[in-house]
Amino acid sequence: MKVFTTAKEVREHYRISVLRHPGFVPTMGALHEGHLSLVEQAVNSCRMVAVSIFVNPTQFNDPDDLLKYPRTLDADLQMLSGVLRENDFVFTPSVEEIYPEPDTRRFDFGDLEHVMEGLHRPGHFNGVAQVVSRLFDLIRPSVAFFGQKDFQQLAIIKELARRDFPKIEIVACPIVREKDGLAMSSRNRRLLPQHRERAGEIFRTLVAAAAMASDYETSEIKEFVDDRINMIPDFRLDYFEIVEAETLVPVRAAIEMAPEKTYCGCVALFAGAVRLIDNIEIRLH
Ligand code: PAF
Repeated sequence: MKVFTTAKEVREHYRISVLRHPGFVPTMGALHEGHLSLVEQAVNSCRMVAVSIFVNPTQFNDPDDLLKYPRTLDADLQMLSGVLRENDFVFTPSVEEIYPEPDTRRFDFGDLEHVMEGLHRPGHFNGVAQVVSRLFDLIRPSVAFFGQKDFQQLAIIKELARRDFPKIEIVACPIVREKDGLAMSSRNRRLLPQHRERAGEIFRTLVAAAAMASDYETSEIKEFVDDRINMIPDFRLDYFEIVEAETLVPVRAAIEMAPEKTYCGCVALFAGAVRLIDNIEIRLH
């Protein structure tokens, strides 16, 4: 695999290798098995694959979170070298390479951004849209792979691609979980051991909440999640929402749910000082 830090090197690589529209996996590094599953999917379906590693400052609404975001470039490259092929490449640009000038673009995703993470992390999705559109412009992929753990991000990126990059196919990849059900995330490595030990309860709660969907009122399911998460020592629920999977419109009452539709139960919480998100598909049975 090759490692490039500038768009110029990427263009030169395209010129030499003749291929110019790779499969693309954008990341912020601190790679884990979840990322590797995206990269493997890309390798299995694309003749050339690009993986970017860039901790994007514009998507952090909390400066402390940006500061503490794990940076493990050497280990990341080591991990990728086991999966990527000779012609594939890793793009590790500097902030100046991505943003030669401050990015002042304002994206409007309407209702998609006025719920959940959009409400709780103001400006976050604008930053995500800035960097993803910039990376799409530089890498010019034919297909891009995103994990379903960031469910709202995926919906926003699909909308961004539909509007501004109609030739790029967006592929949604399933959540990869630890043995106890904890969704893999770069943030997990910041969990204190006692919090990590308790974190399997998040997925168990989601599974139980999804099973309640056909028989309980939405408010009862929310109360159940609220109680179960807040009962875990040092854990604090930020929100739990059941949303329609395509539009992200929140379900307010069970009567609004239709058997032919798919819904998603989305949770955000603090485990000590670390904020985690997870989600589960919900269908009526
Ligand atoms: O999901 C992530 O890791 C980031 O939000 C992304 C898509 C790489 C943009 O910085």
